[in-house]
Amino acid sequence: MKSNFNLNRRRFLSQAGFGLLAFAGLPAALQAMQTGDSMHTLPAGKASANFLPDVEIELYAQASKLSILPGPATWVMRYSAKLIKGPSNTLTDIPGSYLGPIMRFQTGQKIRISLINLLDEATIVHWHGLHVPAEMDGSPHYAIAKGERFVYEFEMLNRASMNIYHPHPHHQTARQFYMGMAGAIIVNDAEESRLELPSGEYEIPLVIQDKQFDNDNQLRYTPHMHERMTGYFGDQILVNGRPKQKLNLASRAYRFRLMNGSTARIYKLAWDDNTPITVIGTDGGLLETPVQKPYVMLAPAERLDLWVDFSGRKKGSQLILGSRAFSGAVPAMAERMSNMMGGRGRHGMGMGGMHHGMNNDVNAEDTRMGGEYPILTVTINREVTDSPTLPSHLSQFKRYSLNDVANPKQPLPLAISEGPMSMLLNGRGFADDDVQDFERIAVNSIQLLEIFRSQSGGHGGMGMGMMSMAHPIHLHGQYFQILSRTAENPGAGYDTVKEGFVDNGFKDTVLVMPGERIKIIKPFQDFKGLFMYHCHNLEHEDMGMMREFSVE
Ligand code: C2O
Ligand code: CU
Repeated sequence: MKSNFNLNRRRFLSQAGFGLLAFAGLPAALQAMQTGDSMHTLPAGKASANFLPDVEIELYAQASKLSILPGPATWVMRYSAKLIKGPSNTLTDIPGSYLGPIMRFQTGQKIRISLINLLDEATIVHWHGLHVPAEMDGSPHYAIAKGERFVYEFEMLNRASMNIYHPHPHHQTARQFYMGMAGAIIVNDAEESRLELPSGEYEIPLVIQDKQFDNDNQLRYTPHMHERMTGYFGDQILVNGRPKQKLNLASRAYRFRLMNGSTARIYKLAWDDNTPITVIGTDGGLLETPVQKPYVMLAPAERLDLWVDFSGRKKGSQLILGSRAFSGAVPAMAERMSNMMGGRGRHGMGMGGMHHGMNNDVNAEDTRMGGEYPILTVTINREVTDSPTLPSHLSQFKRYSLNDVANPKQPLPLAISEGPMSMLLNGRGFADDDVQDFERIAVNSIQLLEIFRSQSGGHGGMGMGMMSMAHPIHLHGQYFQILSRTAENPGAGYDTVKEGFVDNGFKDTVLVMPGERIKIIKPFQDFKGLFMYHCHNLEHEDMGMMREFSVE
């Protein structure tokens, strides 16, 4: 059937700013690719005979043991992968890390990934950030048991970007993610290649996570009730799965591709010498032009693409990327308790903080959320004279406005309610077959959505402000754009974070601080079915701060 697939693709590409030229430039095999109406419901989980993949991967989820800290090895849960078909650079292992291999794809590739569950429990993989059919999105509905296999087949429709693969079984996402199951998906396209940004050893993916280890070096994931409320914080900061991460680099420009792989921790990233941070991209790929910030906020699941230029730095010089002090991201009550305890109590309302003796540096680190601590040390170990220059123009895409949306006067609500034992979206927890009327969305429409705090939370005794905290809100499916961010009633501490948002690119996760109201514009194109939206504070997500849109 001559379907509307190509029409959809063309519209998608032009809305993503690629235009018809880019479409014409796709390999003929991809233009010809057609297995029928892409809008229909695919049989989930099985390979289909008429899908001819360009890339085929077997992805294993399993428990394994590796050395992270000095002393005993640590049990983790992790992904590993085998390339069955496709370009040899598709998979890159991160040496010594529990993180899954980096997957590299090109826009337009047809991809088959078979998840093989070798864990003793159910799991499913979600491709965070990718625009794939609902059946291929790794929803909890599709979780597979031990020993089972789930075959994903989709075409890479995303623009160049860094995305995430991670587990998504209901109530278990946070723990599985925390135990090590996560990896980066890097998508490249023609528009980005043309820029000749730093690549190879000069392009460095950096996944930032926080963990707690017990005295036998085993990961501890045991959130108490109050830690499910605030989120679960570790006292060790790992980068690409290693503590105290150090990089030896040349005196030239690099591309740092940052991902927050923590379940709940928010970072306020800055260089110790106050060098401004140059941002070239966000969750959904390159910005139009580079942006400079004194610091940047990076909430769970958010990504940032940084241009980091060490040109002119002397051999032996050091720079530290760290997290700076901020407040307002956890409930005021928890923050006060933690301050009273001086950040020394591990049980300081789940704020993280106690240091193992063995990990104490000369300079004490305050690894409470919102504390000040180092993340990554860069040492310049060689001086070079030539370095690429930062392009002044990075990419071209359509900026959505109210004229593009189906509902300019009636934004779809994403109402956050915050109560002592419940964090919810639109008043309900996650449930099967529970789509509310306003959660039904016409396929191929572009919608205005508004994220705010519901007034009717009804949590009487706890004044609004007491429970109010930051939530990284994530929507599955296509990237969105942020139309506006207004701080109507900013909580204490807002001034400590407000310069750090990068809101002018494509996003799939947005940090919503207390008192903020954020309007976003998001396309719901190409695929019908259920697409989740939830808080990416994974403790909140597992508590039920997750809902689904039914695109129909
Ligand atoms: Cu990163 Cu629904 O997830
Ligand atoms: Cu939340």
